[in-house]
Amino acid sequence: MKKKTLLGMSLAFTLLCSPLQQPIAAKTTGEFRQMDNVAHRGASGYTPENTIAAFDKAVEMKADYIEIDVQRSKDGKLVIIHDTTVDRTTDGTGRVKDLTYEQLSALDAGSFKGEQFKGEKIPTFEEVLDRYRGKIGILIELKSPELYPGIEESIAQQLKKRNLDRPQNEKIIIQSFNFESMKKMDALLPKVPIGVLTSSKSHTTEQALKDFSAYADYFNPSYGIVTKDLVNDVHSLGMKISSWTVRSQEAADFLFSMDVDAIITDYPDYVDPRN
Ligand code: G3P
Ligand code: CA
Repeated sequence: MKKKTLLGMSLAFTLLCSPLQQPIAAKTTGEFRQMDNVAHRGASGYTPENTIAAFDKAVEMKADYIEIDVQRSKDGKLVIIHDTTVDRTTDGTGRVKDLTYEQLSALDAGSFKGEQFKGEKIPTFEEVLDRYRGKIGILIELKSPELYPGIEESIAQQLKKRNLDRPQNEKIIIQSFNFESMKKMDALLPKVPIGVLTSSKSHTTEQALKDFSAYADYFNPSYGIVTKDLVNDVHSLGMKISSWTVRSQEAADFLFSMDVDAIITDYPDYVDPRN
């Protein structure tokens, strides 16, 4: 078990014993659960994914975290976009890595979701950190980091510059499907929680989970491979489990019944129906 997890557990125990302890939030159907509500690419069911409109909507809907996908422009700017090309979500074409920030920032990243979002831009990582830190948690996914050598150092630098490399009240988590990148991120930022993403059952064996637990705090699977046994195995290794991507009430209800720690959803209201 990672040292920072042990520290976190001892802090949690202290808080539990404190007379000031209060439920963080009454989640779901009035029943108390400590399950985080993570707005996937922002509240992307209602707004254009990975834009300020989507992140503002997640804040308005009182999600606990926004999930963002980070990539890098040709000239080294960290930008928030999911696909490795701009074709699906903007009015441009081409690979993110082949376009300068000036070219990326000129694109319309809103109209694909509806005319009312025309003019939404591809945000920068710095802009998102500055606008949302302390207001909502930020789950940072390094998207295809193998395309961007050195992106881990750039992300670490931006977090350190803002003292977000030792998050306290400001909730920051870093995750990726690329495990080597996450080992590197853990070495660069030992106090920031790390997550591994997968949709492969081959990553749920006892040995695989044990290997992840050497550097990861979160095991984050697609909900199709979540079972009660998997949740128990992840917890017994001292990790948490956040699952994705909820796009129906049935999927949210399934994950409630599995007792995962966080639900990553396009629709935050499926996880917390008060909003
Ligand atoms: O946060 C989990 C989820 O974002 C992983 O898949 O493709 O939506 O980035 P994807
Ligand atoms: Ca993502």
